[in-house]
Amino acid sequence: MCGIVGYVGPRNVPEVLLNGLKRLEYRGYDSAGIATLGKKSIFLRKQEGKVDGLRESLKDLLTSHRDGKSSAGIAHTRWATHGPPTAANAHPHVDGSERLALVHNGIIENYRPIREHLESKGHTFRSDTDSEVLGALIADYLTEKPKGGLLDAVSLALQKVHGTYGIAVISQDEPGCLVVARRGSPIVIGVGIDEAIVASDPAAVVSVTQQVIFLDDNDVAKVTPTKVDIRNLENRPVRRSAHEVDWDPEAATKGGYEHFMLKEIFEQPEAVRNTIRGRLDPESGNALLSGLGLEPRDLVEISRILMLGCGTSLNAGMVGEFAVEEFAHLFSEVEQSAEFRYRNPIIQRGDLVLAISQSGETIDTLAALREAEQKGALVAALVNVVGSTIAREAGRGIYLHAGPEISVASTKAFTCQVATLLMVALKFGRSRRLNLVQGQRICRGIESIPDLIEQVLAKNDEIAKVAEAYAEMSHCFYIGRGYLFPVAMEGALKLKEISYLHAEGYHASELKHGPIALLQKDFPVIALLNDVPGKEKTIGNVHECRARHAPVIGVVTEGDAEAAGCIHHAISVPVCDPYIAPIPTTVALQLFAYHVARLRGCEIDQPRNLAKSVTVE
Ligand code: M6R
Repeated sequence: MCGIVGYVGPRNVPEVLLNGLKRLEYRGYDSAGIATLGKKSIFLRKQEGKVDGLRESLKDLLTSHRDGKSSAGIAHTRWATHGPPTAANAHPHVDGSERLALVHNGIIENYRPIREHLESKGHTFRSDTDSEVLGALIADYLTEKPKGGLLDAVSLALQKVHGTYGIAVISQDEPGCLVVARRGSPIVIGVGIDEAIVASDPAAVVSVTQQVIFLDDNDVAKVTPTKVDIRNLENRPVRRSAHEVDWDPEAATKGGYEHFMLKEIFEQPEAVRNTIRGRLDPESGNALLSGLGLEPRDLVEISRILMLGCGTSLNAGMVGEFAVEEFAHLFSEVEQSAEFRYRNPIIQRGDLVLAISQSGETIDTLAALREAEQKGALVAALVNVVGSTIAREAGRGIYLHAGPEISVASTKAFTCQVATLLMVALKFGRSRRLNLVQGQRICRGIESIPDLIEQVLAKNDEIAKVAEAYAEMSHCFYIGRGYLFPVAMEGALKLKEISYLHAEGYHASELKHGPIALLQKDFPVIALLNDVPGKEKTIGNVHECRARHAPVIGVVTEGDAEAAGCIHHAISVPVCDPYIAPIPTTVALQLFAYHVARLRGCEIDQPRNLAKSVTVE
């Protein structure tokens, strides 16, 4: 979604801001803008389109700004919500007197009455946005010259608004400082030596510093090159400690790959190694997940695990659900977060609710977590982004350590989520029905995941060739059973996201209940035929598809002549236990989707209409 960057310090301010925006591009946006403090007035430039276009229009400003003079600026990438993606609606917004500029993520729900009130006082507006109204309200308080200047004006304005915000504000009357605040939309402050950078996402900060402070809801902070003064909305000082973000700035670059998505697909062996490192004890055949904060006694008292997520995280949760049931014979369910939050769900003593989210900022998953906690559930989170809202609110959980995922289409987060959920299932399994030998076998299975992924990655060229044969299709179905049903869903999600092809995932047995009516010679089916229970039945479904002349691609276990013999094109994956199979199979489908999208000339890393994290409903 929208991205915020702000900088105060001695570097070339526009350059730092544009570099920061570039690192936030992955979140999806349709317009971009920048505002910097000048000697006499605020410099503002904003336009529809990409950050590169904005940079092009700022050539003069970039060369005129020399290093060595301390100044401040803010910048933004906007994903249109209120009003179309025009230059007028793009951020930053300056107030009527052009002394103050603001960038805002989130939604101000009561902006209309505030706008009317301000109009009655003589304020004029240039856009349709709720954000401009917030900027004008702050400017209005600033005219009253509050004791604490811009910081106080921001706090007073925020006390009047309903909704969500992450904001950064500069004022021509207070050069050398930024004011930032959050409620429901993240803000991080990167604290450097005699400089500071603020952003909505650590990815934009790490090129300047890896020391970051995560603001909490209702925090307001004044940030200067040497000091961060954080208060709550009642103006009482609050303490927030700095954390070191272990993201290498290079991790947020393409590193020689054509797309972030491809880079992230190839990072998966290392990502999973990082996920499982130190978390498996092969000797006791158990998982060590101290972040869950559950003692053996707590484990046996939990009677149901409920997993919540959206999109890819929801699909990963489904694999987790099956594994928890298989390993622990424990009642387990997975539910789409928005459905959970609005359904008045039943929570009982003994429920553990696991919120699964790569970004840790998905609004529906965050709200579902809050609903579960409010109803008395024990909650925990499986999150990739350290310090994200879901991670902090859950208070307990497991970080994926997958490294930054920039591509909108999630890849390495899925494999790391599944690896983590297998460890969760193992932990519960060992407290119930799994004996030592069974636990040790599962440990070895999980440890083998990085090698299995490498074997699939080695087939990249072969998978590209299969993709070539199908790049012109218009529709396709993915079918699978058991552990491969969520993979069918994930494979179809990946393909539709990045290639804009119509793809649906089905349980193989569902074909006969309707979808088979669509099959004909130009409607391919991707059948997941690996050696898992139910394979024979899926082979039966393949014959039904072929009888309707549908071309069939099969993902098959290496050496399985029976499965390979019943399909038109095969993608083979290594032999592994059924509960591991979702990982190599998904990696093969990620590569297939990637190559189809590439051959169709699609914008792979930032597909149309999509944002990396969905922070508004
Ligand atoms: O950050 P989260 O895991 O909470 O995000 C959930 C979904 O928005 C996300 O998985 C989305 O479906 C991806 N674009 C899938 O590739």
